[in-house]
Amino acid sequence: MYYLGIDIGSLSCDAVLIDHENKIMASSVVPTGAQNRIAIERATQEVFKTAHITPKDVKATVSTGYGRDRVEERLAAVTEITCHARGIRHLLPKTNVLIDIGGQDSKTIRIDDNSLVVDFAMNDKCAAGTGRFLEAMARALQVDIEELAKLDHGASGHVTLSSMCTVFAESEVVSLIADGISPHEIVHGLNRAIATRILGLVHRVAPSINGLSVAMSGGVAHNSGVIRALSEGLNCEILVPPRPDTVGALGAALIARERDS
Ligand SMILES: Nc1ncnc2c1ncn2[C@@H]1O[C@H](COP(=O)(O)OP(=O)(O)OP(=O)(O)O)[C@@H](O)[C@H]1O
Ligand SMILES: [Mg+2]
Repeated sequence: MYYLGIDIGSLSCDAVLIDHENKIMASSVVPTGAQNRIAIERATQEVFKTAHITPKDVKATVSTGYGRDRVEERLAAVTEITCHARGIRHLLPKTNVLIDIGGQDSKTIRIDDNSLVVDFAMNDKCAAGTGRFLEAMARALQVDIEELAKLDHGASGHVTLSSMCTVFAESEVVSLIADGISPHEIVHGLNRAIATRILGLVHRVAPSINGLSVAMSGGVAHNSGVIRALSEGLNCEILVPPRPDTVGALGAALIARERDS
């Protein structure tokens, strides 16, 4: 028997399928697009196909993410905070502080040694410090998001962005390009600006991170430049699991198995 977790975020819809021993059988990430129903169907079909199973083989499904109530055949809909915490402790069991940066919000989650969420902080009021901010900056620099993630290599770090508002930062980037500043330096400045924003959220849940294990989930965890800037700002290593964008869906699948038995 299998258990399915579905995370419908603002940008990506992720599915993870596990077996009764919590082993990950398949995972998928598809764009959320305009219609949640279609994204849910695509992400689900993809994991079924990979694992060579049919819907009848799924014993229970748990959904999470902002569109979690749109998953019809579910045992429960659970918050992203709980699911990301559950997922990360499965992959990186020592995690005490989790940073989740997705498409439209960023969160920090404090987890105790028993895997319980003891505190969290969230920015969901503006795009600054989220994936959407990075996507807008990639457009301004005329590169794709994967390229943007690597662009800060070799930067000396002399560019500081003065605005974190997406609209103002976009025009600031455009004028820096016009002034002949290299994209490496601009991206380095952007990553540091994002890191400063996220550090504030980290300190709200962990005033001192001394001795704590810090990990990152969400799509922005693919961005090595942001991780480097965060790690420099916090002065500690940040662990990133494989497929960080599926951590919430994995947590949902693990909760489905727990609640069903
Ligand atoms: N390969 C990649 N390289 C760099 N960045 C990436 C990559 N894949 C995704 N991202 C980043 O991840 C972001 C999307 O993250 P994620 O899939 O976690 O969002 P979401 O869960 O849909 O959003 P939310 O949780 O805010 O509703 C994109 O905006 C982009 O910045
Ligand atoms: Mg998300």
